Amino acid sequence: MAHDRLFGLDESDYEETETSLTRRRKIEHIEICLAEDVQCRRSTMFEDIDLVHNALPEIDKSKIDLTSNFFGLRASAPLVIAGMTGGHPKALSINERLATAAEELGLPIGVGSQRAALEDPSLVDTYKVVRENAPSVPLIANIGATHVDLAVDAVSMIEADILAVHLNPLQEAVQPEGECNSEGVLENIAAIVDSVDVPVIVKETGAGISSDVASSLEEIGVDGVDVGGVGGTSWAAVEYFRALKDDDDVKAQLGLQFWDWGIPTALSIIMVLDSTELDVIATGGVRTGLDIAKALSLGAIAAGVAHPLLRPATFGSSLDVVVELERMLEGLRVAMYLTGCSSVTDFSSRQLIIKGRLVEALQSLDIDYKKVAGGT
Ligand SMILES: Cc1cc2nc3c(=O)[nH]c(=O)nc-3n(C[C@H](O)[C@H](O)[C@H](O)COP(=O)(O)O)c2cc1C
Repeated sequence: MAHDRLFGLDESDYEETETSLTRRRKIEHIEICLAEDVQCRRSTMFEDIDLVHNALPEIDKSKIDLTSNFFGLRASAPLVIAGMTGGHPKALSINERLATAAEELGLPIGVGSQRAALEDPSLVDTYKVVRENAPSVPLIANIGATHVDLAVDAVSMIEADILAVHLNPLQEAVQPEGECNSEGVLENIAAIVDSVDVPVIVKETGAGISSDVASSLEEIGVDGVDVGGVGGTSWAAVEYFRALKDDDDVKAQLGLQFWDWGIPTALSIIMVLDSTELDVIATGGVRTGLDIAKALSLGAIAAGVAHPLLRPATFGSSLDVVVELERMLEGLRVAMYLTGCSSVTDFSSRQLIIKGRLVEALQSLDIDYKKVAGGT
């Protein structure tokens, strides 16, 4: 066995119905993320960006204002708890702790894919618990792009303010039971945009969004993207460990081969903003306040974090989740102090130093890195 069972399974997990397979997969993903090293070996490329130090910041750090506009709603800071879970009875307490922390800090929060509860209403509580414990923060519903008919119900199930449509072709391609027919996905997303009355964002889950994909999404009326880039959790890695457990050598080899596939988070933010005016959330390997500051400097409206919150939310309390998030926010405040930014919008006028492999990547994509480094 590649990983230990952390939760144990319910009797219904052993049924071979579509619903119980979805449930079982969800809990296996969490167990693997907790038990194995599933982080990308390639980086976000944030290390190729330096903020310019200001020895005369002329601001009072204690007065720094982290308040942000998040798709027309107020967030106390530009940091999102990225969607992870729901859909299994064991996910309820994880979502409860994440939601309590989000409410405490005033941060936007997403839920994991709601497909399981839309197929099996007995699982609805594992998602609703988020709105119950986070009544005042921006809440993001989550469905796959093939589930046009589920979009309206996903939003109303949790009284969401925003709908995220997740894209995960890498995971599907290396997953033992993966679905690799992506024909018509853009059309589906357009239908989702038309069917709901909340902003729609499209989120990758660890392989990034390119300029062309972003342009296509902007054309069909999507409001924003979460780039979900390379540098953090690798879904090829997660599926590698599942394939090992199932003795599926072919898929295990694919998982290894594509472990680091995709567009690093920093590069993806630049690519999306070079080709569109979409609002960008920067998720994928964001681990420090300095990472958040760099994402904002590149033009993202917020950063997002998933994996680092899984352990405190599973084994700890909502306070442990708050501590982890506060650690990041304090790093952001220090970065703002040292760049003389008293509010998050000030980042847009700060110069950056862009270097190393990020410059090479931008040059090969014909993107003017000096314009990105800009500052106005
Ligand atoms: C255990 C776990 C479960 C996840 N489930 C979902 C999901 O159901 N839907 C989704 O859109 N993203 C899901 N994600 C992806 C995250 O939202 C995020 O895009 C990705 O993990 C990269 O962020 P990180 O490097 O901070 O983990 C999941 C991530 C983790 C760690």
